[in-house]
Amino acid sequence: MKILGIDVGGAGIKGAVIETTTGELLSERIRIESPRPATPEAVGITVQALIDQHHWSGPIGIGFPAAIQHGVVRTAANIDPAFIGLSVADYFSKQTGCPVQVANDADVAGLAEMRFGAAKDAAGVVLVVTIGTGLGTALFSDGHLLPNTELGHIMLDDGLVAERYASEAVRDTQQLKWKDWGDRLNRYLVTMEKLFWPDLIVLGGGASKKLHKFAPRITVQAPVVPAQFLNLAGMIGAALFAEEKLGATR
Ligand code: BGC
Repeated sequence: MKILGIDVGGAGIKGAVIETTTGELLSERIRIESPRPATPEAVGITVQALIDQHHWSGPIGIGFPAAIQHGVVRTAANIDPAFIGLSVADYFSKQTGCPVQVANDADVAGLAEMRFGAAKDAAGVVLVVTIGTGLGTALFSDGHLLPNTELGHIMLDDGLVAERYASEAVRDTQQLKWKDWGDRLNRYLVTMEKLFWPDLIVLGGGASKKLHKFAPRITVQAPVVPAQFLNLAGMIGAALFAEEKLGATR
């Protein structure tokens, strides 16, 4: 099935038409800067621009950087607080006239990696960490997702919120060397390992392309691998999620 997959990020909103049976991109990926402030209306206008640029009129899946409980936004760490409480799937469906499904961005990136990517067929516990403006997480047990884990907001032992310490945005604004940022990420992954004992850790987002630069700083015992779809995983997974939901409502 062809679905327009959209990844709403703190910095950019990206979209491509995805073939859900293979995870392939059927169109070029289009990226538009995230509006500031990223209010529901402003994000809706950007989503509409992606739809127009793809000449799209079918189903849409959106990965969104917040906890999404049955279509309703519950948190707003890196988006406008006006989203909180909004039934975001209904809101975008009405605004665009297309059937839209929405889930957490890291959860959908994880779905793509589990189905076709770095964690394909992985049994046991898999932790996917997406590194961007925030730190997103997706936690799977034998392929089953526990949604909205929000483990980027966990506090490290000196009271620091993990995503304010080890995200890509922090590396960027504090101009950290890969080695120093690698130590920070490692501190986070060690905390995750002590709590969840994953059998595999998949790192997504822009930094995953540079794993070789910080891999020597990582000391967890679980294998740590880059996301196969790198920063395309969100769009691909959003389309997979929408397909799953559409199947359930057909
Ligand atoms: C949000 C998560 C999101 C992550 C990555 C965090 O700030 O709370 O919902 O998955 O950023 O975008």
